[in-house]
Amino acid sequence: LPKQQFWENNYLYKWKGFWLFPDMIKSVLDIQSHFKARSDDIMLASFPKTGTTWLKALCVSILECQSKGDDDQGGDQTDELSKKNPHSCVLTFESEVYGKDDCNPEDILSGMPSPRLLHTHLPYTHLPDSMKKSNCKIVYITRNPKDTLVSFWHFAAKLSAGSNRGPYPFEKAYNEFCKGGYPLGPHTDHVLEYWYEKSKRPENILFLKYEELKKDPKEQVKKLASFIGRPLKEVEVEEVLWKSSLDRLKDLEVNKPGAVLTLNIPNSSFFRNGVVGDWKNHFTEEMKKNLDEITRTKLEGSGFDFDV
Ligand code: A3P
Repeated sequence: LPKQQFWENNYLYKWKGFWLFPDMIKSVLDIQSHFKARSDDIMLASFPKTGTTWLKALCVSILECQSKGDDDQGGDQTDELSKKNPHSCVLTFESEVYGKDDCNPEDILSGMPSPRLLHTHLPYTHLPDSMKKSNCKIVYITRNPKDTLVSFWHFAAKLSAGSNRGPYPFEKAYNEFCKGGYPLGPHTDHVLEYWYEKSKRPENILFLKYEELKKDPKEQVKKLASFIGRPLKEVEVEEVLWKSSLDRLKDLEVNKPGAVLTLNIPNSSFFRNGVVGDWKNHFTEEMKKNLDEITRTKLEGSGFDFDV
């Protein structure tokens, strides 16, 4: 497979059009051979740093609303996010279900009540046939490439602070991103695969944009809830948005810097400022022009456009 160095001693391999780390390739093969989709599975899908944490939190809160019932006295009992980081509530199946030495994926999956809420960063190409052929729902979230890159760069800087990896200059991150040689990249190809698949199967795939969620959260959350088969009352929409809000999650003890995910990532790393257009603080005019042009060329004729 074509190989490329990514940030010091990490290597990515290009497989069926996308750059993956070796352990991801192993997981993909494992998933393809063993994963059995249930028709009511809900798979959240995203390129890294495009709003995964928010989407996970929203879906957990939506499902909780429904399980409480009308005359709920549940309080904290139905507030899973107050006890666990969103990534521990909704596991990323190629890294936290498969690809682990210390547990059996089938035990985790068979023990999950329906509807199973799972997440993946994998491109559509690498999803298992069992899922593609099932009637399960896929919710894809995307974000404009410039903010996605800036968010990833900040995230990487936080990770490198706790390791012996060297600094990760923004310019280097930018060049790798533009060439597409990025974990799970190229970013726009990742988006387009799900976009085309959504056009073929709109009843099974929902497309969300981070920017639209920021701009019109109520409408977007209603759409999301109805899509996953759990339409919300007006008051529940407010509750879901509050429970999943960046300000609230950031402030919860479970997401403060001391708490660490199983992948050795501090829970707090997933919460930064969450604004649209932060790229303006990092991009030169030249960088913007160049990446916009790469994106425009890729999107040509697709009917899809990013918001920023
Ligand atoms: P920024 O780095 O731009 O702040 P992911 O969850 O895919 O890793 O993406 C992380 C990005 O989503 C970060 O963006 C983070 O701040 C933002 N984010 C995390 N939780 C959020 C929430 N509840 N609401 C809005 N944005 C959120």
